[in-house]
Amino acid sequence: TTVKLSNYAPAAYLVPAIDLTFRLDPKRTIVRAVMQVRPNLGTPPGTELVFDGDGVEMLDLKLNGEPIEAKTSPDELRIENVPHEAFTLEIETAIDPEANLALSGLYRSNGVYCTQCEAEGFRRITYFPDRPDVLSVYSVRIEALADQAPVLLSNGNPGESGALEAGWHFAEWHDPWPKPSYLFALVGGDIVGSFDTFTTMSGRTVDLGVYVERGKEDRTGWAVDSLKRSMKWDEETFGREYDLDVFNIVAVSDFNMGAMENKGLNIFNDKYILADPQTATDVDYANIETIIAHEYFHNWTGNRITCRDWFQLCLKEGLTVYRDHEFSADMRSRPVTRIAEVRTLKVAQFPEDAGPLAHPVRPTSYREINNFYTATVYEKGSEVIRMLRIVIGEKAFQSGMALYFDRHDGDAATIEDFLTCFEEASGRSLSQFALWYHQAGTPQVTAQTAYDEQAQTLTLTLEQSTPPTPEQNEKEPVHIPISFALFGAGGEELAVPNQSEAVRDNVIHLTDREMTIEFQEMENRPVLSLLRGFSAPINLNFDQPIEDRIFLARHEGDLYTRWQALDRLATDAIISSYRDSGGEQLASGTDALLDLYGEMAADERLDTAWRALALSLPNETTLVREIERNANPDAIHKARETFFHAITSRHGEAFGILYESLVSNEPYSPDPQSAGRRALELALLDYCTMAENSGERAKKLFDEADNMTERAGTLEVLMLRRPASQETAAARATFEERYGSNPLIMDKLLGMVAKIPGSDAPERVRAAMTHPNYVETNPNRVRALIGSFAAGNPTGFHQPDGTGYRLLAEVIGRVATRNPQLAARMATHFRSWKGMDSTRREAAHQTLLELRKTSGLPLDVRDILDRTLS
Ligand code: ARG
Ligand code: ZN
Repeated sequence: TTVKLSNYAPAAYLVPAIDLTFRLDPKRTIVRAVMQVRPNLGTPPGTELVFDGDGVEMLDLKLNGEPIEAKTSPDELRIENVPHEAFTLEIETAIDPEANLALSGLYRSNGVYCTQCEAEGFRRITYFPDRPDVLSVYSVRIEALADQAPVLLSNGNPGESGALEAGWHFAEWHDPWPKPSYLFALVGGDIVGSFDTFTTMSGRTVDLGVYVERGKEDRTGWAVDSLKRSMKWDEETFGREYDLDVFNIVAVSDFNMGAMENKGLNIFNDKYILADPQTATDVDYANIETIIAHEYFHNWTGNRITCRDWFQLCLKEGLTVYRDHEFSADMRSRPVTRIAEVRTLKVAQFPEDAGPLAHPVRPTSYREINNFYTATVYEKGSEVIRMLRIVIGEKAFQSGMALYFDRHDGDAATIEDFLTCFEEASGRSLSQFALWYHQAGTPQVTAQTAYDEQAQTLTLTLEQSTPPTPEQNEKEPVHIPISFALFGAGGEELAVPNQSEAVRDNVIHLTDREMTIEFQEMENRPVLSLLRGFSAPINLNFDQPIEDRIFLARHEGDLYTRWQALDRLATDAIISSYRDSGGEQLASGTDALLDLYGEMAADERLDTAWRALALSLPNETTLVREIERNANPDAIHKARETFFHAITSRHGEAFGILYESLVSNEPYSPDPQSAGRRALELALLDYCTMAENSGERAKKLFDEADNMTERAGTLEVLMLRRPASQETAAARATFEERYGSNPLIMDKLLGMVAKIPGSDAPERVRAAMTHPNYVETNPNRVRALIGSFAAGNPTGFHQPDGTGYRLLAEVIGRVATRNPQLAARMATHFRSWKGMDSTRREAAHQTLLELRKTSGLPLDVRDILDRTLS
């Protein structure tokens, strides 16, 4: 069945308060729920009560203390006659946490009881109106064997706790803030906390706790530190203060996503909590910082103001991603974080928007909501907020946010509610801007310029269109804010007077299909920099002379945009080589570009992290998407390698010298400057290893490094550049020996194995699947090996004989019955099959049809396959 936004109706019955008692048992946990229920406004007398369930066993049911007749199935509770006034419903259910491998509802991870209720997991615990617009005050009592689960946590503030008979004990929790069921959480286990406090801006003390499995407690420092910085930042930036006496985080090792923002009790995939220099890389540190912030920021954007229905998911996710991006930009280098955001958007969201799984930021229908936790809802949703800020300006944006927090506190709101706040704050209509939420597909903008020497004018013509996407053939023009600058010959930025509402403050507001702009009094032909800061998530097709691009890559004062110019040059050079010679030969006219790489690598005025990003060539997946039709990933790979080689032969020696100057024996620190140094060092090492045709330098750093960033980084260089060498075998053996008992570190190795390009990649991945560390019930293992293979190894995954596709299909078939969400996520890796050449397309098509025939496929997977094949 398909759920449609247009069918939204308020819940017939509300549950203002619920008391839950859990008696925790690995195989048979008993849940007693006492709910205060009342008919909603407008519910006619005699309306049947229908609560959601999912595989729960009903043990007992009472209404106002009396047993009552009801139609009960594992998936639904129906009571025909209920009072037309407030009443009490008592429901006792039994569930089996250990058998719950779907990791939704109440399950056990490494012996720790935990929950994941978003989006529809609460109905796997008890019968309930499991929808985000039913808000309740929760009181929770947890009982468990004290030695099995010495720590018992739930949402809100702690209440009584103590011993019970026969080795049992209990703990009570009360959350005063009404919340939807998807924010409910419970944890019980032999976990260890690291504690700290935070004093809020109004002077309240909050007790902070970060809990992990026993033995991992010395790896929580960075998480605690990141949490405190997040709390401070949200006060300073948005005036948002925390609202409970405690804030707890628990890290578990089996988790379907990154983390979850349950009120006062965030639950995390431990990959995004655990860090110390020996076990986590700089990238891990940065991810932890941003995900801790993300979940914490949800307390206001998601919890205090939640979603009316799941179509509004971007209301909390897009906005919260936007907020965590801003946080990271303030903690680190703004241009460098922007580069990372745009790369992620292009590698994850653009292909989604260009393929059969494309959907609007706010979808209007779904079969399985878990399949809409997508890059479009999250990342494009964040870009839309970013554009909103540019469109209405800083002041109106800030007052719109303040109005939103004020007006909708305690609400289950919609995107319309949100936009209305900004319309009021800015005095502008946002009806056209709202199309960003409703139309799928990445808009394409074509730009052309003409300089008239006589008239001293530069004319810019812009044209926009959005390609058709599933169920949306015709597209309206959207409001695209295009930041720009004009540069004079000496590299100075020229002042551009405001021309109109549509061209003001160095932003062009493209709202029609076509637009022409004239810049006057241009004595010399200026260089135009368009889409500065990636001001809109579009594909810009600007046939700009190469010399202008080189000029921008050298002189653009905004470092993000400088990178963008360089990235475009490299992308075009690689694609030309692909088109002209199947990637065998370097495209002509790349000399100046190749020189640039040398200049940037050596320019010490530039941030090291930025220089590292400048040296990392466009991602293969992004290049494949740029080809659009009949792509041959082998030739793309070759073209990228040819380009890499060209840089190497020009600068290999200089890079070697520079590399040596960066190697440092200072002790490890995760700060952005030190991380930048390591990033540049490793980027250079990659080139040197190729230039010298030797793994010696990499092996030396591998042996001498005191931290995981350099150990994993050097091993990756060795595995990808010199897969068959002695040094690589030796380093890999050392690595496995040293870290074999740490699954999160072994995931890094699985990821490297998965990414080694070429036709034997599927076999290599198959071999890794037999490794004792690869446990298919754990999502991190599957994502590390199978996800890295399908998403990060185009030549291996898109083997023309279909072996890569069949490997993925096999894993999906196995995982589907246990963990539908994980299997569905893996199935999305087929999303670009239609852009491949005919041999690959045919092979993918066959594999997808075969997979769809598998009996007993869960709805999650069928939904993805049906859409992928449509
Ligand atoms: N709300 C979580 C976050 O963005 C994601 C959890 C989604 N989980 C799921 N099973 N769909 O932080
Ligand atoms: Zn989120």
